Amino acid sequence: MVKVARGLRRCGYSLAALGVLGALLRWDGTAYVPPAKPPPFGGFEEPEDARTGVLWIPGYELRKPYVGPGWRRGPSLTEEAKRRIDPDMPSLEDRVFLVTGATKGHGLETAARLLDAGATVILHGKIEGRLRKWLCLLSDAFETTKIDAVLGDLEESEEVEALAGIIAEKHPKIHGILHNAATIDGKFTGKRRFSWNYKMENTMAVNAIAPFQLTSLLMPQLQAAGNARVMFSMSPTMSGDEHLDDLKCERYWTGLHAYRLSKLCLEMVAKEMHLRYGNAPSLTFHSFDPGSANTKLMRQGSPSATGKKSARNRVNPVDLPSYLPTPRSRKASFWAMVDDEYQRKSGTFVSDTRGKSKAVHDPEARKKIWEEFTELSGAQWPETQSASLPKALAVDA
Ligand SMILES: NC(=O)c1ccc[n+]([C@@H]2O[C@H](COP(=O)([O-])OP(=O)(O)OC[C@H]3O[C@@H](n4cnc5c(N)ncnc54)[C@H](OP(=O)(O)O)[C@@H]3O)[C@@H](O)[C@H]2O)c1
Repeated sequence: MVKVARGLRRCGYSLAALGVLGALLRWDGTAYVPPAKPPPFGGFEEPEDARTGVLWIPGYELRKPYVGPGWRRGPSLTEEAKRRIDPDMPSLEDRVFLVTGATKGHGLETAARLLDAGATVILHGKIEGRLRKWLCLLSDAFETTKIDAVLGDLEESEEVEALAGIIAEKHPKIHGILHNAATIDGKFTGKRRFSWNYKMENTMAVNAIAPFQLTSLLMPQLQAAGNARVMFSMSPTMSGDEHLDDLKCERYWTGLHAYRLSKLCLEMVAKEMHLRYGNAPSLTFHSFDPGSANTKLMRQGSPSATGKKSARNRVNPVDLPSYLPTPRSRKASFWAMVDDEYQRKSGTFVSDTRGKSKAVHDPEARKKIWEEFTELSGAQWPETQSASLPKALAVDA
């Protein structure tokens, strides 16, 4: 019995050795070379740190033969969108929209829907590979010449300026900007970071000052469109009235605090924009809540969200219910861009009904933030209609 067992064991060893040899050598004796990793879907790598500054990527560069309706949405949404268009204003096919942060979450979903509805869309992203991938996939799905992409990081003033310059050069008229890009938690590191030439906390720079500066730089293109709107994707969690004297978050920092403060400041300057330049139906300013959804930002920010907390290697308890809906089930950002209710009047703000901040309704506090942001960004705003205080501001005061 023992001999039989030993024999079997030796046999096992020999077979294992033969297996290893067989795996390393082919029949012809040449060494085994593992096959190259297949290229990622769309053919583009997504290295996180790959940055090449600001770049314009025309959609047609990446076009392939039409491959199918991968990204198409149901016709009912497009029909509903067309019903919400004012017949006296440009049709959806004639409108140009810029969507910031269009390579993920709400932004990507909204860009796809706008394309489906026939509009021209400029996708904005900060990682070249990712931007090219989505540009390529969306160009395939929509078979349209109406899609372009622009690369640029929103955490530095110079890059925002270059970004606006390149967009303005390609599109003299812009009918809508969706300020959707946002970050949290020190660029998802869990540590405070400074950007904007070390003058600002990272989340504050990306979420609040960058949209402020970008809007100021694209004002001529918005005004040239005749009917244009600027929509700010807001969060009802905005807060931090008592920290408005600490925009760099030097006194106090947590990822969530900086995010909430950035949204509060954004709401305040958005309201100022409306009061200074809102002139429906030519140019309107609004903020809206896109709705909770299971996105990278939400997973990082919410303690109750499920999934990996990217870069912190923290995984939430698996027994938490995955209650968050997908961005696809959220349509608020799409309606914000196409519903002409937002063109007929200016100045709907999340803080009017849901925010708890008092500072948003305080003209002095808003003016102070406006001035600080103007100084930090070097933004040059056009003169308001009346050179002194605009009428709307005086009424609000
Ligand atoms: N999700 C929610 O539950 C929720 C709730 C209320 C409000 N919101 C608001 O909805 C908007 C979209 O959020 P989301 O949940 O869809 O987040 P998301 O999936 O994480 O998308 C954020 C987008 O912003 C881009 N971005 C981040 N940092 C950037 C930078 N420095 N420069 C340029 N682009 C940058 C990201 O680019 P990459 O793809 O390259 O990372 C990404 O495309 C945000 O304004 C957020 O505050 C979301």
